[in-house]
Amino acid sequence: MKALEIKPDIYWVGAIDWSIRDFHGYVIPDGTTYNSYLILDEEITLLDTVKADFEDTELSNISSLIEPSKIKNVIVNHIENDHMGALRRIMNLVPEAIIYITEKGKHGMSRFFDISRWNIKTVKTGQELKTGKYTLGFIETPMLHWPDSMVTYVKEAKLLISQDAFGQHLASTARFDDEFIKCASESELEDFVIDYYANILMPFGKIIKAKIAEIQKSGISVDMIAPAHGIIWRTNPGKVMEMYLNMADGKSNLRVAIIYDTMWRGTEFMIQPVMQGIKDEGVDCKIIKLRATPMSAAIKELWKSRGCLIGSPTLNNEVYPSVGEFIIHLRGLRPADRIMGAFGCYGWGGGAVKWLYNEFKGMKLESFGSGLEINYRPLQEDDKKCYEFGRDFARKVKEFHKKYE
Ligand code: FEO
Repeated sequence: MKALEIKPDIYWVGAIDWSIRDFHGYVIPDGTTYNSYLILDEEITLLDTVKADFEDTELSNISSLIEPSKIKNVIVNHIENDHMGALRRIMNLVPEAIIYITEKGKHGMSRFFDISRWNIKTVKTGQELKTGKYTLGFIETPMLHWPDSMVTYVKEAKLLISQDAFGQHLASTARFDDEFIKCASESELEDFVIDYYANILMPFGKIIKAKIAEIQKSGISVDMIAPAHGIIWRTNPGKVMEMYLNMADGKSNLRVAIIYDTMWRGTEFMIQPVMQGIKDEGVDCKIIKLRATPMSAAIKELWKSRGCLIGSPTLNNEVYPSVGEFIIHLRGLRPADRIMGAFGCYGWGGGAVKWLYNEFKGMKLESFGSGLEINYRPLQEDDKKCYEFGRDFARKVKEFHKKYE
């Protein structure tokens, strides 16, 4: 897609990746974009680059506006490969350009490139760069989501170049929120935001709150947020900030996700009565089989639900491997504000359910009871146990949810 002016003399010059489905293990069925921005001012300034595979696209977009050798400044807000991948090619074209980056970013950059001949200025929060009519302010955002991360604020344009924050893995010809909503819907767009937050930013809720508060307190006025992925927020940037604050505060739906896997279907047979018990308590339920669903989709469903039941058979005295993998992934995302429970079938000796409860405890998650285990497979008389387990869990979820209303 060709370069697009998003504010006077500020252009999107990124690339759309329609075909990517695996983003370092995070399954993204709708592709993504790598957003890069170019300011045509007295000092021409490039903000971030794109994944290396798309450097030709970015250079073509830049060349449609100016001769790339005229770039004077390159802002590197984040050193992850999807945003710094084209930097070497750019710097070969403009070896005298000045790179603005955080101290930690400079260190990380040195691990990817030979930076000995590059002009690098490290910046801290509050420092500014005057490009002509525009003033760029830097705000460090460490661990949002890497130690190097920062965002750049273009004061006169009221534009926040927010890096990964407020992004979505979404390939679309729409560049702005209103354009996307016109061809899809607001709730669809919100779902992309939740998916991204759950899979990338879930561990950083406290930092997100503090950073948004810092930005709001600083008195800077933002009427557009331009993230590094997905659409640009120009209609109501406050809406996505509010969504982030709500997610960071643990807001979620009164809903249960049952995330499970099964060996000879015993654990799967438990689900129908468990689900019925939950439903009869008036709580909606979503069922996700792990080997049939990308891990990242399961993470999103957990994040959208106040309660989550994990179903796992015991295999060789251990949790079922796909369930174990899911839990390890979840552990790294440091979930909070959710209530958990577990169930499953076993043949010789149990163990999976106990293992899961230990994991919940390790993650400091609230848990319900001690779970439900059934030998081999549920018989008709076990259905009632499963039903009551689901019903009791739903009652507990409703009670727990009140804290967040
Ligand atoms: Fe989109 Fe942290 O890279």
